[in-house]
Amino acid sequence: MKLAVFASGNGSNFEAVMEAVNRGDIQGEVKLLVCDKPNAYAMERAKGHGVPAFLFQPKDFVTKEAYEFAILDKLQNYNVELIILAGYMRLIGPTLLNAFEHKIINIHPSLLPSFPGLDAIGQAFDAKVRVSGVTVHFVDAGMDTGPIIDQEAIRIEDGDTREDVQRKIQQVEHRLYPKTIQRVIEKIGSVKH
Ligand code: GAR
Repeated sequence: MKLAVFASGNGSNFEAVMEAVNRGDIQGEVKLLVCDKPNAYAMERAKGHGVPAFLFQPKDFVTKEAYEFAILDKLQNYNVELIILAGYMRLIGPTLLNAFEHKIINIHPSLLPSFPGLDAIGQAFDAKVRVSGVTVHFVDAGMDTGPIIDQEAIRIEDGDTREDVQRKIQQVEHRLYPKTIQRVIEKIGSVKH
């Protein structure tokens, strides 16, 4: 299956996906990385893996529709079948949603529907919850609202710092996302046949 990864930042989840692809744990090829931030370290990681990386900045387009059409054109050039959001910090608009219906998945660092939106780890930490976690879900027009595919919890112990919580969450993410992506690939594959 031909995959595109979208990222805005560090790209540790992109890295985990690449490692799983290289191990054969994800039966797919990452054809390209789409990035909206010029300084995102994810761009460097893509180069390291020989994956074409494309920068699309909304400020270079008149409308969000034009921005997404440019991305869509690139995805079609590479025959992408599934989009993997990995720390891509933008809402997906109708242009991409309609072209990739039920073919866009996202990872979010909380147990949705708790703590959607920005800085979910900080939100959970500030709320002093004792359990948080990671959600993988299909993307719809809302903010972190699409159908949930899988979740895994972490415990927040007395004395844990925000950084401790972040480390626990990211450890789960790097294991859960590849596993869930492979499950989605298998499901899409079996629907096709
Ligand atoms: C991850 O924790 C991901 O769950 C989160 O951004 C981080 C990206 O890290 N995504 C969201 O908050 C989406 N709403 P990474 O760049 O190291 O993969």
